[in-house]
Amino acid sequence: MKIARVTLSDRASAGVYADLSGPEIERVLSETLGAGHTFVVRLLPDDRAGIAAALSALCDEDRCDLVVTTGGTGPAARDVTPEATRDVLERELPGFGEAMRAVSFAKVPTAILSRATAGTRGRTLLINLPGNPRAIGECLPPLVPAIRECLKHLNGH
Ligand code: MTE
Repeated sequence: MKIARVTLSDRASAGVYADLSGPEIERVLSETLGAGHTFVVRLLPDDRAGIAAALSALCDEDRCDLVVTTGGTGPAARDVTPEATRDVLERELPGFGEAMRAVSFAKVPTAILSRATAGTRGRTLLINLPGNPRAIGECLPPLVPAIRECLKHLNGH
């Protein structure tokens, strides 16, 4: 599979701190989906039009099977990831965000501050994750069965 991991953060993209979340997506997916996948890496500031353009290119030009974003899902003014994602989705799959918030809320009450969503564009599944690397380890593994099943459906099986 071709998988894009997209880190959305003004500060990480400016080099103020290192991007730990993008590599964490790659680690979790390599562990749960197995080895042999190709990862495309993007690191962008929190700009809605720029994010939407990058996401649509990853679907339409790079033909990624899966695009996973991290960051920009909260309630702060610069958090625009869900809006930029909806700008490019053809069909929304709200269950991914609902599941993440449900599994995390029991452990981390602030998990419900994430507005993360997901959906499809063509044959690509796009999923938002929160920006905290620990949140990725908590939120992403429970989504893997639905990710596998969704990709089968998108490919006509
Ligand atoms: N989910 C888990 N599992 N663990 C966390 O620490 N942080 C929350 C939430 N979801 C968190 C989490 C917080 S504090 C915020 S503001 C939102 O994710 C949005 O984070 P983001 O803007 O970095 O995407």
